Amino acid sequence: MAPSPSPSSTPTRSTLTLRVNGEEHTLSVDHRTTLLDALRERLDLTGTKKGCDQGQCGACTVLLDGRRAVSCLQLAVAAEGREVTTIEGMAEDDRLHPVQQAFLDLDGYQCGYCTPGQICSAVAVIEEHAAGWPSAVTEDVRPEAGPPPLTAEEIRERMSGNLCRCGAYVSIVQAVARAAGTGAGRPAEGAESTEAAA
Ligand code: FES
Ligand code: FES
Repeated sequence: MAPSPSPSSTPTRSTLTLRVNGEEHTLSVDHRTTLLDALRERLDLTGTKKGCDQGQCGACTVLLDGRRAVSCLQLAVAAEGREVTTIEGMAEDDRLHPVQQAFLDLDGYQCGYCTPGQICSAVAVIEEHAAGWPSAVTEDVRPEAGPPPLTAEEIRERMSGNLCRCGAYVSIVQAVARAAGTGAGRPAEGAESTEAAA
């Protein structure tokens, strides 16, 4: 990343290279530019949504080196050298990612505004669970206990950073469960509850 010269002694812009969905993009940004704004306003990747712009709703969730992150709280300059994956990078050619397909099949959305963030989070949730990461509702957190069953309660807790103003939580939980292979074709345990996922 090369700071651009400015009239004052302190540079306020830099030219950086962002790697997004496997493609490199070189752009000059103000140091205060968030990754969310760089994606949407500079790279035209408008699938990532701006909701609260302060880290509270999850609409802007992307994957950074495979881990989920709210892009409104990340500076673009801090993402240089990292692999950024957005909703536009989930499908492989014409084939949707299994999580996208599950959301589609099970109506895991209404207006769809929160959906890109929900899907990015769900992809990471499934990987975190498979890797044995416990959540706040995991009863037995001993490493030898292995991954806990991915119940509806586990999914709701692990997805709790992603809000849905349409209240599509029941279908979202079912979609995550199906994609995880724990409840393909049927709701996860307790998923029929109307209790919100977040
Ligand atoms: S827009 Fe980033 S968390 Fe809400
Ligand atoms: S589907 Fe409308 S905000 Fe979630």
